[in-house]
Amino acid sequence: MAKEVKTIGVLTSGGDAPGMNAAIRSVVRVALARGLKVKGIRRGYLGLLNEDIFDMQSRDVSDIIQKGGTVLGTARCLEFKQPEVQKQGADICRKHGIDGMVVIGGDGSYRGAQALSRNGINTIGLPGTIDLDISCTDYTIGFDTAVNTAMQAIDKVKDTSSSHERCSIIEVMGRNAGYIALWCGIANGAEDILLPEKYDFDEQKIINNIIQNRKKGKNHHLIINAEGIGHSASMARRIEAATGIETRATILGYMQRGGSPTAKDRYYASIMGARAVDILIEGKTNRIVGYRGGEFIDVDIEEGLAMTKEINEYEYEVSKLL
Ligand code: ADP
Ligand code: F6P
Repeated sequence: MAKEVKTIGVLTSGGDAPGMNAAIRSVVRVALARGLKVKGIRRGYLGLLNEDIFDMQSRDVSDIIQKGGTVLGTARCLEFKQPEVQKQGADICRKHGIDGMVVIGGDGSYRGAQALSRNGINTIGLPGTIDLDISCTDYTIGFDTAVNTAMQAIDKVKDTSSSHERCSIIEVMGRNAGYIALWCGIANGAEDILLPEKYDFDEQKIINNIIQNRKKGKNHHLIINAEGIGHSASMARRIEAATGIETRATILGYMQRGGSPTAKDRYYASIMGARAVDILIEGKTNRIVGYRGGEFIDVDIEEGLAMTKEINEYEYEVSKLL
């Protein structure tokens, strides 16, 4: 018999992502509509340990769906990697009557979710990260907004780069994953796209490409460099020295994590939040909600984290032809 869930806790953890608020709103409103109580936990696992826990009503999530960031706040809490601290976290949940938990974050946060689950609190993870680096899902909350934000910024840099006939290296986020770089590379029409998954450290190839393009009359050369490769400023200096073409590096940084979420992030996050509540009601635990093959799914956390995610070969090949 599935353990009946009466009170759901919700927290956001790790890097924030646009759309997290839509997910929180959905968890709160769907849980209330199903007759459950909801408790919000501020600042991720850190807030859980500090018992920064409060009752949430429908009005608490009014007017947040369009806002970037997370109204619950987030934190990185390294302490939560310790088994005795994880047990303490589960005991705090029990003390506050929380018997089901929704954790919105990335793969690090799922390890914490797994620990809560192991310690008797039914826990479901939602994929909240701009990096798209969760292997069991084709979609993560925040990626769409981050890519659109970066794309718009890159268009602007491209304007000035063309006017000055410069080469521009633009570094985008993604931790060790190249999805934001690949998407911007294609969407912004970059001449070179450098992805951690594919990078061969052959800078001479890039230099030759710049020289050839300049000979063909191109007035700019746009290189999208992923954070996982980094070193954009020193790369720019070496390229300028080798080509004689003025080269500038721009690191887009945290602006990619902020801003009002796109319709896609609001919509998918809303459905995922609902799904998390409904599978908790079914008695499920230790699962990640995802979107794969056109459907919302849920998979075991261990299984989900064990899958490998790679850049689609065909999409990468196409990016090089454009
Ligand atoms: P993300 O969830 O975006 O991948 P992090 O890797 O920083 O971000 O993880 C977020 C938080 O999840 C950490 O600060 C910590 O509280 C918790 N966490 C990370 N790894 C573990 C782990 N191995 N065991 C338990 N909790 C973890
Ligand atoms: O995971 C989201 C992300 O923005 C990554 O793209 C980046 O590597 C990391 O978080 C930065 O983390 P912090 O906020 O700790 O600097």
